[in-house]
Amino acid sequence: MWPFGDVRAGGLGLYLILVIGLWRVLAGAGAVWPQGAAGSSRERRSAGLVERAAGEEMCSDPGPFHDRLAKDTHTYLFDLSGELTLVWIGDGTGVILVLTTFRIPLFLVTYSQSKLYRSDDYGKTFQEITIQLNDTFVRSEFGMSLGPENSGKVILVGDVPSGSSGGHIFRSSDFANKFIETDLPFHPLLPVSYNPENSNCLFYLSTQYDLWISRNFGESWKNIHQNVCAAKWDSGNTIIFTTSVNESCSSSQTHTMKRTSDFGQIFKVLIDRVFSFGLWGRFLLASVMDEDKINRRIYVSKDKGDKWNMAQLPSVTHEQFYSVLAANDDLMVIHVDDVGDTGYGTIYTSDERGIVYSKSLERHLYTTRGGETDFTNVTSLRGVFIASVLSEDNTVHSVISFDQGGEWTSLRKPENTKCDSTAQDPEKCSLHIHGQYSISQNLQVPMAPLSEPNAVGIIIAHGSVGDAVSVSRPSVYLSDDGGYSWSLVLDGPHHYAILDSGGLIVAVEQSELPISTIKFSTDEGQCWFNYTFTNDSVMFTGLASEPGARSLNVTVWGYRPSYQQRVWVSYTVDFAVLLQKICVEDDYIKWLSHSTDPGAPADGCVLGYKEHYLRLRKSSMCQNGRDYFVNRENTYCTCTLDDYMCDFGYFRKENESECHEQPELRGHELDLCLFGEEEKLTTSGYRKIPGDKCAGGMNPVREEMDLRKKCTNGLEQKSQDGAYSSRIPVILSVVIVLLVAVAAAVLIIKKYICGGRFFVHRYSVLRQHADTQGDEPLDTSITDPRRGGHFHDDSDEDLLE
Ligand SMILES: *[C@@H]1O[C@H](CO)[C@@H](O)[C@H](O)[C@H]1NC(C)=O
Ligand SMILES: *[C@@H]1O[C@H](CO)[C@@H](O)[C@H](O)[C@H]1NC(C)=O
Ligand SMILES: *[C@@H]1O[C@H](CO)[C@@H](O)[C@H](O)[C@H]1NC(C)=O
Ligand SMILES: *[C@@H]1O[C@H](CO)[C@@H](O)[C@H](O)[C@H]1NC(C)=O
Ligand SMILES: *[C@@H]1O[C@H](CO)[C@@H](O)[C@H](O)[C@H]1NC(C)=O
Repeated sequence: MWPFGDVRAGGLGLYLILVIGLWRVLAGAGAVWPQGAAGSSRERRSAGLVERAAGEEMCSDPGPFHDRLAKDTHTYLFDLSGELTLVWIGDGTGVILVLTTFRIPLFLVTYSQSKLYRSDDYGKTFQEITIQLNDTFVRSEFGMSLGPENSGKVILVGDVPSGSSGGHIFRSSDFANKFIETDLPFHPLLPVSYNPENSNCLFYLSTQYDLWISRNFGESWKNIHQNVCAAKWDSGNTIIFTTSVNESCSSSQTHTMKRTSDFGQIFKVLIDRVFSFGLWGRFLLASVMDEDKINRRIYVSKDKGDKWNMAQLPSVTHEQFYSVLAANDDLMVIHVDDVGDTGYGTIYTSDERGIVYSKSLERHLYTTRGGETDFTNVTSLRGVFIASVLSEDNTVHSVISFDQGGEWTSLRKPENTKCDSTAQDPEKCSLHIHGQYSISQNLQVPMAPLSEPNAVGIIIAHGSVGDAVSVSRPSVYLSDDGGYSWSLVLDGPHHYAILDSGGLIVAVEQSELPISTIKFSTDEGQCWFNYTFTNDSVMFTGLASEPGARSLNVTVWGYRPSYQQRVWVSYTVDFAVLLQKICVEDDYIKWLSHSTDPGAPADGCVLGYKEHYLRLRKSSMCQNGRDYFVNRENTYCTCTLDDYMCDFGYFRKENESECHEQPELRGHELDLCLFGEEEKLTTSGYRKIPGDKCAGGMNPVREEMDLRKKCTNGLEQKSQDGAYSSRIPVILSVVIVLLVAVAAAVLIIKKYICGGRFFVHRYSVLRQHADTQGDEPLDTSITDPRRGGHFHDDSDEDLLE
């Protein structure tokens, strides 16, 4: 089922020991408070608590907010405990669907109950609509499958008695107002998949590995292919899937990739020996097994699989894996696991064809396949990535890149902090960010780093300040310039959310004890105020606000701590009463992003252009509103050699900008090549970096050399494989895994009550569009759907997706 799991498990153990060791060293070395806030921080004042970071300007007074907010705080008590899943339907509709499920096995039978609730006012009130489900238990492992965009479609999967001939779904196409019950002629294996361009077209993979499609939103179904192992929608009603000759979809076997663009009339065979595949913008990637059945390589197609080119990435063996960390139409960022059970690998970034790759970061921490990496694409500023590196002494360090992985540096130490005991020099250290890896190690990190495209420059993350990631109690740090500078904003672990396009940030302290307050900041985290939203305290499980960060409504989810009444409760606060004034021109200020050298002509140039933004002044007390759009102006920069990457077969000497021909390739045939006519592998040694928009200036033209003369074709001339692979390290080949970068959007909190595994208070917020292509896992798990998709009862392994 998980063929290489055992190989990697040893590695995990190692890190665990490492972390525990560090903990001993650090015990007692807690995070440092912002100076000036210490002492007063726990004091309760009539207007609420004021925590102020050192050296910042005075906090703007939000006035007596308590009574005003109390008027727009809404409590709802649910009448069930157990597992809770919630999802937003549509954008700006305020519709939330909440499913609670409760299941206890009692000897031979299982007692199970589910209830469905709907809100259409951002969670202020709910109506129970369980009656729509006709007393059927909803299988929460299938989640609530949302249609693409604003289609208002949602599908729930009901439980059926064992032995029944098919499954049972409830589908709604009107934002969950009315559900229609439909019997399926098969049992679904995975959640439904919507065609992103037409939400009436669906497919299901059945437990028998048949591919079933519907063109009328699930009313009627047609079996179009048997022995299907994995399938995905591509544009233009195309379905791309892998199929096995053998009725077996086990991940130790490879499959044939096929395509249909007319709902199953005609099938075209695309490529054989496929291990896994994924769609990334205009790129279709497949990890293809060599004939020797030892090595896999990545092949890339830009025309839905008609023509394939081999990616110039190292090949991997069955013990290693690939992972697509981030991708858009210009650029693929791919992790290639190192040989051996190291827990790290190398990040490569592609050219605009997806074929030529440059080494970006070595020793990139990535422990288990499909598992833990801290890689984060910061969405609030172009070109910023954060990742973790495992150094030779087995400590973990955070690094940041401001140019799409071109260069990586340590994160600057926040001004208002002191280095912790991991630092050798108490004056010189850096900030380290806790990501998925720390979360997987149970380091009291309730959330991964958060950024939103419309909250320009803002990143909120847990971290520690020292020479390496530490296991002492993490605190919350915030950057308002896309990661160049940071400050400590909240002591201890918190849940946080960005509202009103960054105009408002809210946070709730993570605590084992009941809580009753929510903190908010209107100035990007400099000053915080406490609002007590309830007189009864609540066991807190999570914060939820509408995806997209435009809302001013936020819901605190939790349950009442008393044993008799252990039911879910929600408190929704509408902060519009606090920020009544709509922002005007004077409330905004011009800001140049990526500015590191004010005054210099190239200041702010990244990937060939500068961006000037209008940003909300920190002191402004006003709301951006739902209709706010980011005001941005681009100016183009003059090209330098740094706007070019070295093409395949070329490299840069340290501290040099020129690309030199790689000597080890001279006189050798290259074990890489393109096949298909559209791409000519000619090169002058330089390629413009994907997405670089520089104009004029340096244009390094050289005589083009046809690399095909040096090439052997990976697919067609197998006999030559292996002979060169060991000698040419950069070039072998690859496949794919996608890490759930999505995890940022997903929040799953488990609380074990009564110590029993069946009394799980589990809370999860589903991604807005549960099945949009492009950001789903693209790893070996896809070739083996029997792993059961995304949810897994009673298991701790389902924290991603
Ligand atoms: C509930 O189930 C009954 C019997 O299975 C069926 O006749 C009825 O149409 C269902 N009602 C709804 C609302 O689906
Ligand atoms: C089918 O599977 C069996 C083992 O289950 C294997 O021996 C055989 O080679 C497979 N056939 C094909 C065509 O892959
Ligand atoms: C990173 O996120 C931004 C904002 O969502 C997106 O525009 C960009 O394409 C992403 N970069 C990559 C390489 O995926
Ligand atoms: C907050 O919720 C109310 C519904 O009670 C809604 O009218 C309002 O638009 C929401 N605010 C935002 C900014 O989404
Ligand atoms: C490259 O530059 C760095 C920093 O300026 C310096 O420490 C290093 O020695 C240089 N390397 C070479 C080979 O010149």
